[in-house]
Amino acid sequence: MVSYKELGLVNTRDMFAKAIKGGYAIPAFNFNNMEQLQAIIKAAAETKSPVILQVSKGARNYANPTLLRYMAQGAVEYAKELGWEKPQIVLHLDHGDSFELCKDCVDLGFSSVMIDGSALPYEENIALSKKVADYAHQYDVTVEAELGVLAGVEDEVQAEESHYTRPEEVIDFSKRTGCDSLAISIGTSHGAYKFKPEQCTRDPKTGRLVPPPLAFDVLDAIMEQLPGFPIVLHGSSSVPQEYVDMINKYGGKLPDAVGIPEEQLRKASKSAVCKINIDSDSRLAFTAAVRKVFAEKPGEFDPRKYCGPARDLMTELYKHKIINVLGSDNKA
Ligand code: G3H
Ligand code: 13P
Ligand code: ZN
Repeated sequence: MVSYKELGLVNTRDMFAKAIKGGYAIPAFNFNNMEQLQAIIKAAAETKSPVILQVSKGARNYANPTLLRYMAQGAVEYAKELGWEKPQIVLHLDHGDSFELCKDCVDLGFSSVMIDGSALPYEENIALSKKVADYAHQYDVTVEAELGVLAGVEDEVQAEESHYTRPEEVIDFSKRTGCDSLAISIGTSHGAYKFKPEQCTRDPKTGRLVPPPLAFDVLDAIMEQLPGFPIVLHGSSSVPQEYVDMINKYGGKLPDAVGIPEEQLRKASKSAVCKINIDSDSRLAFTAAVRKVFAEKPGEFDPRKYCGPARDLMTELYKHKIINVLGSDNKA
């Protein structure tokens, strides 16, 4: 059993309380490899932003659970080396799909876990989320649970259609599970194709897809039921067109990729939404930079020469999110 406190990590409790009070949101960035982690820490340290390092089940399988845990510990030391005296870093399991996986992460030094029972019937979601919360709270590890279904792929969990969170259920769910934060469904979804073209309109000037707005009325109704309770938004990449264009220009094929417009995330950040999950935008930045190097320098075969530019572009992206979208700079 490793305590996250020994690793220099923090849980989400105070972080979320301050974010709600201060009208900003904490970035939750997924990582699978060293370059993403370096970019996240550099961006957070340079902007003095609290940050949540997210690890999915797929990331654990890809990178090895033990290695990832030590990477997160190394990240705290790296942040200090960059001049961030008291780094506010959370290590969080993203979309945990079983009690055993959540327990394993708690035991390995995670400071926060998500149990995603959103695809289960309501009572089963409550029972599973409560079991995880009861275990995690013994070690002061915070727990995110989810109510409502996002369309798209959630690691092992897949759904064709989204079902908005029902505001009339949130009090009962949060009380009975004891969760510390609640992920909700208000129209976001995972990946780079968040909306089908038929759900969107087209900008007549650019020909680009314009997505439908998020269901802020549902968010308002949830906040009315649970005043001051930490709310989480998954599937919140914006799918920046400049990266999509770069990828397509240099041999990729991402037709009609579309994300959540930044103005909507800015608006959400000012509310009780205090954690915003971003993964796909980092993947797009990484891929765009790598494709550019491959296209322009076909003779290059040193991974540092294409992973380095990818890391730089991701750092720029993370800083942009922190400063211009979530407003979490200078809060740590
Ligand atoms: O919500 C899903 C995250 O983007 C993680 O994706 O399961 O492919 O690692 P992954
Ligand atoms: P995106 O696919 O929009 O980046 O969402 C990531 C996410 O929700 C991770 O849990
Ligand atoms: Zn998610």
